[in-house]
Amino acid sequence: MDPEEIRERLRRGRDFLRPDMDEDTGYVSDQQLKKPQPPLTKAAMTDTAIDLPKDFSSLPVNHDFLNVINSRASHRVYTKEPMSLTELSYILWCTQGVKEIRGRSYATLRTVPCGGARHEFETYMAVMNVTGLTPGIYHYLPMTQQIELLSEPRDLKTFAGESLLGQNWAARADVIFYYSVVNYRAEWRYGIHAHRIILIDAGHITENLYLAATSIGMGSCAIGAVNGRLCDEVIGLDGEEEFTIYAHVLGKTDTADREKEQVFYAFVKEQNL
Ligand SMILES: Cc1cc2nc3c(=O)[nH]c(=O)nc-3n(C[C@H](O)[C@H](O)[C@H](O)COP(=O)(O)O)c2cc1C
Repeated sequence: MDPEEIRERLRRGRDFLRPDMDEDTGYVSDQQLKKPQPPLTKAAMTDTAIDLPKDFSSLPVNHDFLNVINSRASHRVYTKEPMSLTELSYILWCTQGVKEIRGRSYATLRTVPCGGARHEFETYMAVMNVTGLTPGIYHYLPMTQQIELLSEPRDLKTFAGESLLGQNWAARADVIFYYSVVNYRAEWRYGIHAHRIILIDAGHITENLYLAATSIGMGSCAIGAVNGRLCDEVIGLDGEEEFTIYAHVLGKTDTADREKEQVFYAFVKEQNL
């Protein structure tokens, strides 16, 4: 890429980040135009819905909030221990669970905050090691606390590494979450300003995932380096109205693996950074 193009890309990136909602552009959103709002969540894509446990009382949840905050960290080394369906349900609930509907069907109120309560994300999963679940690609149905099996790709573990741009350690995880954005859900309200808000919103989901995982003694790692096109293709997204933007890897950890975790940051010592 030539330096001028790089400068231009950087400038566009910075402009995208700048809040410009106070500028008088004369822009009118579809909500202001009273156009019908899009569905609050994506409908089931199959008829394979599986009920998830809603009672989390069997989980040894750490209720010491400050301890959970202080022990949150990224984990990239996992044991082969499977996670339970209740643990998976707990993580899904803590990251995108629907607590209430605002109005008749104006918005969902969830366990995470979101600009205008648009909740423009869908959660997909590569389930590799969850007791009772066939390995495959799943979709979370937050209105009913269910998941549906979308497909059973032959080499899920290869997909795991390739979908995260060669981060092959993720193939040892129990589950990889892939977050897509259904753009119009946010654009209906925020229009040309929606996309900056979408990225801010995405952060809340994975922070809750980190904290939820920590609270039940599991390890996880947020992932920005995603092969979006591959994820869209394998999950079955159109790549325009809805596409993958973010991922999060989750698995069981063992304190005996602490040294192996350090290997990911060995370069800091080697290069005396
Ligand atoms: C938006 C975002 C993207 C990230 N992408 C990756 C990634 O692609 N690969 C990875 O190994 N870690 C990734 N991480 C984890 C960070 O490297 C990690 O949070 C950081 O090194 C600080 O470590 P800590 O989470 O243990 O505090 C990402 C974290 C965030 C929040």
